[in-house]
Amino acid sequence: MRINKFLAECGVASRRACDRLIAEGKVTINGRAASLGDDAGEGDDVCVDGVPVQRKKSNRYFLLNKPKGYVCTVRDDKGRKTVMDLLPAGAGRVFPVGRLDYDTEGLLILTDDGELAFRLTHPKNEIPKTYLAKIEGTIAERELNMLRAGVEIDGKLTGKSKVKVLEASKTYTKLQVIISEGRNRQVRRMFDAVGKHVAFLKRTAVGDMRLGQLPRGKVRELSSDEVFYLKNL
Ligand code: URA
Repeated sequence: MRINKFLAECGVASRRACDRLIAEGKVTINGRAASLGDDAGEGDDVCVDGVPVQRKKSNRYFLLNKPKGYVCTVRDDKGRKTVMDLLPAGAGRVFPVGRLDYDTEGLLILTDDGELAFRLTHPKNEIPKTYLAKIEGTIAERELNMLRAGVEIDGKLTGKSKVKVLEASKTYTKLQVIISEGRNRQVRRMFDAVGKHVAFLKRTAVGDMRLGQLPRGKVRELSSDEVFYLKNL
């Protein structure tokens, strides 16, 4: 690739500013002063002011609509299907960011960017995650308020959450639940704590990033705007 593009991708400066550095004779390729039309690549020793530049590794970011029946690990000891089975060939060494349990569907981010994964899952960052839950039977306002205020799971109260009923009949209730923690099976166990059984659970958003119309089991790469949004969440 052109030397100015190479330098820009290494994070030295914009392509135009790199052209200036080249014109000023500050750039060398394998010990020789570089000219504007030169090419440089992986194996070349490129320096600016005598300092070697390093190619930034570019990360991959995927959004998957996880179906139920898949585990969120790279490999499963029990031989079950994993979310990795749903990625396209050549997806690289990505891993799931956080977990959705075996029976839960919905939005899952996979990346090889450890820093972003850490940011999105660290409890101190309180990133809101939105779920669609379907429970058996009905739920009383008092129970909804208990969920909103926090219920006890493993001897510790859950944080405040937003819970609203979307649809109700005698046999089932559909709710939107927004939590900012990520404890194991948290939504299911919150409902267990008020005596309700979650029959269906799907994550629909992380922050303002939505699953949208992505079909179940399908995956797409995130745009650079979406990656920027997640990095600044
Ligand atoms: N809460 C759950 O109960 N399960 C999930 O997979 C995610 C949140």
